Amino acid sequence: MNIGFTYNVRHVKPDMDDPQYIMEAEFDEPATIAGIYDALQGLGHTVFCIEADHSAYKKLHDLRQQLDLVFNIAEGMHGLDREAQIPAMLEMLEIPYTGPSPLGYALGLHKAKAKEVLLAHKIPTPRWFTARAAAEIRPDNVDFFPAIVKPLGEGSSKGIGSANLVGNHADLVRVADDIIRQHGQSVIIEEYIEGREFTVALLGTPPRVLPIIEVTFDALPAHMPKFDHYEAKWVYDDPQHEADPLVCPAKISPALAKKISQVCRHTFQALEMADWARIDLRLKKSTPYVIEINCPPGIIPDPRENSRFPRAARAAGLAYDGMIAAILKSACHRYGIKYNCIKK
Ligand SMILES: Nc1ncnc2c1ncn2[C@@H]1O[C@H](COP(=O)(O)OP(=O)(O)OP(=O)(O)O)[C@@H](O)[C@H]1O
Ligand SMILES: [Mg+2]
Repeated sequence: MNIGFTYNVRHVKPDMDDPQYIMEAEFDEPATIAGIYDALQGLGHTVFCIEADHSAYKKLHDLRQQLDLVFNIAEGMHGLDREAQIPAMLEMLEIPYTGPSPLGYALGLHKAKAKEVLLAHKIPTPRWFTARAAAEIRPDNVDFFPAIVKPLGEGSSKGIGSANLVGNHADLVRVADDIIRQHGQSVIIEEYIEGREFTVALLGTPPRVLPIIEVTFDALPAHMPKFDHYEAKWVYDDPQHEADPLVCPAKISPALAKKISQVCRHTFQALEMADWARIDLRLKKSTPYVIEINCPPGIIPDPRENSRFPRAARAAGLAYDGMIAAILKSACHRYGIKYNCIKK
């Protein structure tokens, strides 16, 4: 098949003092783009690479007669709805693509709107408050501590450091003010759920739940709070660090696995997902609380990188190319297109 591949790639090396890196933090490494390209080609497809920059519309427009489907992992360029930009172009050009419609992408990135939908569906999610300015945060609208403060629409732990877990009003206002200034966007303040953390990969439409991953924090130094913040990622990314923070399949009872799977399938459908997504949850008194949904989730090809979606796929018996093929197949099925590849 003729497969378009839309992506955003990092052009600079990780450096928190480089504004271009901060802008591109969510973008994929060149090695990830190369790995996906190889997998698509290895499946027998002719691949058309389209970097999702300002020239993307013209490139897609010119290729629209040739492309059977687009495999989309683009993060988008600017604004809170940026992940919806490439899907919106593809809708306009009537080119089929993987993943949800623009609505699903925009909802996924807007942590508060996503939670409003979850609440309407009675899916448990931590209590929250959003603030455009620190002055809006008062003891009467945030009375849940400890609390965690996050930028409203970021991913990849951007803006989430260990100091974002706060125990009182004064610290909350200070951290929120810093985030609002640094990221130029609102913050979401959530009740901090102390319990075990899980991340769940879903594949297909309707999706099947891949083996559940528990994210553990026991190997973090004692002074570090036990959640997935920037500093924790540095610890785990250090090649000297041997402990694997992920347990897959998670060691949980069949009853809990069933409960988590049900909540995840319901969340996938409520947030208008398609083909694939990864959901982060935390457990409080045996109830799984949905923290957020990621689509496109990260899919770093090198198994040593412990990328979560491919890790769950491997536990389900799917190699990297089989995982990509399953995403393509799911999209083809939704569009009523026959899926052809050399490998089944
Ligand atoms: N309400 C909460 N209660 C407990 N921990 C939380 C809560 N919200 C976030 N966290 C912690 O912070 C981490 C990052 O939060 P979140 O998943 O919202 O950010 P993200 O940057 O979008 O993540 P990702 O790296 O998955 O894109 C979570 O994995 C979890 O460890
Ligand atoms: Mg997350």
